[in-house]
Amino acid sequence: MFLWGTATASYQIEGAAAEDGRGTSIWDTFAHESGNVRDGHTGDVACDHYHRWSEDVTLMADLGVNSYRFSISWPRIHPRGDREVNQAGLDFYDRLVDGLCAQGITPAATLFHWDLPQALEDRGGWLNRDTAHRLADYAHTVSARLADRVPIWITLNEPFIHMVFGYALGTHAPGRALFLDALPAAHHQLLGHGLATRALRANGAGRVLVTNNCTPVWAASDAERDARAADAYDTLHNRLFNDPVLLGSYPDLSAFGVPALDAVRDGDLEVIAQPLDGLGVNYYNPTRVAAPAPGADTGGLPFVDAGVTGHPTTAFGWPVVPDGLRELLTGLRARYGDALPPVYVTENGCSQADEPGPDGVVDDQGRIAYLDGHIAALRAAMAEGVDVRGYYVWSLLDNFEWAEGYNQRFGLVHVDFATQKRTPKASYHWLKNRLAAEHHHG
Ligand code: NOJ
Repeated sequence: MFLWGTATASYQIEGAAAEDGRGTSIWDTFAHESGNVRDGHTGDVACDHYHRWSEDVTLMADLGVNSYRFSISWPRIHPRGDREVNQAGLDFYDRLVDGLCAQGITPAATLFHWDLPQALEDRGGWLNRDTAHRLADYAHTVSARLADRVPIWITLNEPFIHMVFGYALGTHAPGRALFLDALPAAHHQLLGHGLATRALRANGAGRVLVTNNCTPVWAASDAERDARAADAYDTLHNRLFNDPVLLGSYPDLSAFGVPALDAVRDGDLEVIAQPLDGLGVNYYNPTRVAAPAPGADTGGLPFVDAGVTGHPTTAFGWPVVPDGLRELLTGLRARYGDALPPVYVTENGCSQADEPGPDGVVDDQGRIAYLDGHIAALRAAMAEGVDVRGYYVWSLLDNFEWAEGYNQRFGLVHVDFATQKRTPKASYHWLKNRLAAEHHHG
């Protein structure tokens, strides 16, 4: 059965940051430091989903989705990042999973969606190889409790974005600006993926995936130097995370002046490359890059962002290019061939400045057009032979959009953050009709 779902992440929706024994995460620390998040917003309350999960499950059941991708808050389970388990944290996900199953909604749980226990950051975070082993312990704890009812597990969410924003540029937690010295955070996350996969399988997890943020890369011109820049960007954004998992090797990083990743030890790539049941792909937009101008200071990077023009944009300013999803999926198939497992589009969506009108209606026609176009592109990729098994809209609810706080609304459901009132938007009603037709046609 094709999975149609919505996606969320723990820190972005749960709130209840200090309840039932939850430990501190790097996002608590980062958001509470002034200047890091727009308007000083934090995830302390977010969508209060920790208390309102049942209402949110009902919203999904009424929408007609048959799957829900959520993430587990690592510091709710292991508050200090060590083996000590917080039962109350596990109990929360137990209730949520039972609630989903009761509605016939297949749970898909992400282990790491960026909210690392602060105690692990204090020991170096993903720059420390030990964090990979701690992810495996955590994978063991949650799957021992939930794998009997959660058939789909996603080890990591967008390790590229976490490395770049969290460790290279410092615009996300943990706020480190190490530029290319952030690369060990790529390898250690990937090693964590492999070790966690083993732990999940040992506890009978059905399908194990990793979710990468992927982008089609366009060269700004036909010039050879722009083609080389595009290739370098593709290597960093896409191949650095897909190749080791699917092919068991790292791409050539010489364009970055990096001869080899010195964090890699013998045997690591075998752990990273064990068979997967699916590749999770988050798609938002293509990326267009050019070679740096001669003499420009790019901090050692062999490309600059040239911007995608000539397309509508979201509230974030991201270009809306539905066919980029078809291009991405067929490109993955062409690059990896039979090494590409079934693909799950684990996120796709757009932000808009959505507010209820005088009649109370949130008329987000832009999101309807966005989703309609991207679902058509998904169908086109499938018609071209890509084995796609699921599609999840980001997001069910307007939520805490990281460094943007509550200022970027991605939800099918509007949230009034002062009252926590949920209002399904026009796109929710549109998708509901669409899903009813999909299920009807099998
Ligand atoms: C990808 C991330 O996984 C998610 O947390 C974020 O909110 C969306 N992109 C939108 O930026």
